[in-house]
Amino acid sequence: MKTVLATLAVLGGLGAVAGGATVAFGLYNVSARAGHLPPVYWALHTTYLNAVDLYSGAPETPAPDLGDPALVELGARHFETACAMCHAVPGRERSATVRGMNPVPPHITDAVRDWSSEELHWIVFEGVKMSGMPPWPSSREDDVWAVVAYLRAIQTGEVTPARQAEITARAEMDAPEGAAWCAGCHGGTQAHVPRLDIFEADYIEAALLAYREGWRESGIMQHAASELPPEGLRALATWFAGRKAPPGRAPAADPELIAQGEALARAGTDDVPACTACHGPGPRDLGGLGGEAPEGRFPPLAGQDAAYMITQLRLWRDGVRGGTEAYNLMRVAARELEEADIAALAAWYATLDPPGGAAGEKTGGRGGAAPNPLRLPADH
Ligand code: HEC
Ligand code: HEC
Ligand code: HEC
Repeated sequence: MKTVLATLAVLGGLGAVAGGATVAFGLYNVSARAGHLPPVYWALHTTYLNAVDLYSGAPETPAPDLGDPALVELGARHFETACAMCHAVPGRERSATVRGMNPVPPHITDAVRDWSSEELHWIVFEGVKMSGMPPWPSSREDDVWAVVAYLRAIQTGEVTPARQAEITARAEMDAPEGAAWCAGCHGGTQAHVPRLDIFEADYIEAALLAYREGWRESGIMQHAASELPPEGLRALATWFAGRKAPPGRAPAADPELIAQGEALARAGTDDVPACTACHGPGPRDLGGLGGEAPEGRFPPLAGQDAAYMITQLRLWRDGVRGGTEAYNLMRVAARELEEADIAALAAWYATLDPPGGAAGEKTGGRGGAAPNPLRLPADH
């Protein structure tokens, strides 16, 4: 027994010396050109496959309808600038530089394998250590589903090269740098994406800064807002605020739900303040909170996309969304909202004509040079 223990101790000691020497003298060749030794590659890759199996349970936010074309398109547009540089897109090849990476990021048509939606969600949210595959840039799991919807559509073969090109095509426009790209998501009337034409420039700029600084979380917008130089944000905000806001989107919800939403938004309850006091339509009166709500600084909701508002109201209610210095007001306002209230409120606001009515003329706002009064919160 003693000899066995002694032998084990000696072997352990030798192992530690060998490990120490590998680190101290750099004995394991880290050259990406040389690649991993086959057993090391096998160990890393098998661990990766098994870890996805082991850790990927059901995400906290249940999957929405992954067949929703608007969700697929949103995922595709995010993928185009956040992922395609490594995985390419259907119909395109990866660059020679990327194909030299170790491990090589698989082409997206191979990367989706037959992973389930939950497994894809896990991979995209968590990333893969020591491989170059990054994690989702925010702690919000819900917006990962748009990318999963797109990856599912690749699995089913729905995203042909032609469909891919159609989704990510950019309109030619006379606009500041980046605007055409932003408008790919914000330009049309896509569900899940907020329209920007109803806002004043101050609100848009403040939201972009909040994403850049991570005070407002969204894996999609934190990426988008960090792709452009900060000096360019004001020009983009001014340009989007200057668009004419066409009348609200067609009401799809049932009239009873819309009526419930209107009653709650206008009158409030003991637990929920009247939304119109801060968001309009009509006169905005903060009552005990101090005078009139500044038009243009508090985002108008009339004509906003319903799916987007539902997500945001849940985020406020659950204490997830931050934003400009005024974000606390909204956390308090949403604290007691039930799911049914959220659906009704979003349904009503979505059917309204945006500020300025059908003509789309907004009022208020300030000159371009004055500092933005919507500062970010000092501590967050
Ligand atoms: C810097 C390069 C890089 C970027 C950017 C990147 N990935 Fe990856 N990705 C990788 C690498 C490398 C792997 C392989 C990991 C492994 O096999 O250990 C990978 C693996 C994957 C896999 C699993 C592949 C498989 O074979 O199981 C999926 C799915 C995936 N990535 C999707 C995405 C999505 C979606 C994005 C954007 C949100 C993204 N990746 C961004 C490099 C990247
Ligand atoms: C891939 C699609 C996509 C791209 C590209 C994109 N956005 Fe967004 N944007 C979104 C989504 C989705 C949201 C909602 C995020 C959230 O949940 O907070 C959003 C939110 C916003 C908001 C907050 C609006 C509000 O109602 O509070 C602003 C402002 C904004 N985007 C501006 C821009 C600008 C400017 C660009 C170009 C630099 C851009 N976006 C590019 C999808 C996109
Ligand atoms: C005391 C004022 C106040 C009241 C009352 C209020 N809100 Fe808000 N709301 C805000 C402010 C301020 C913001 C923007 C905060 C930020 O982004 O920093 C906001 C943001 C929102 C947003 C996100 C808009 C966007 O474009 O991202 C939604 C949706 C919203 N409120 C819905 C409601 C609803 C529904 C009610 C009624 C239940 C309500 N609010 C009551 C002040 C208020």
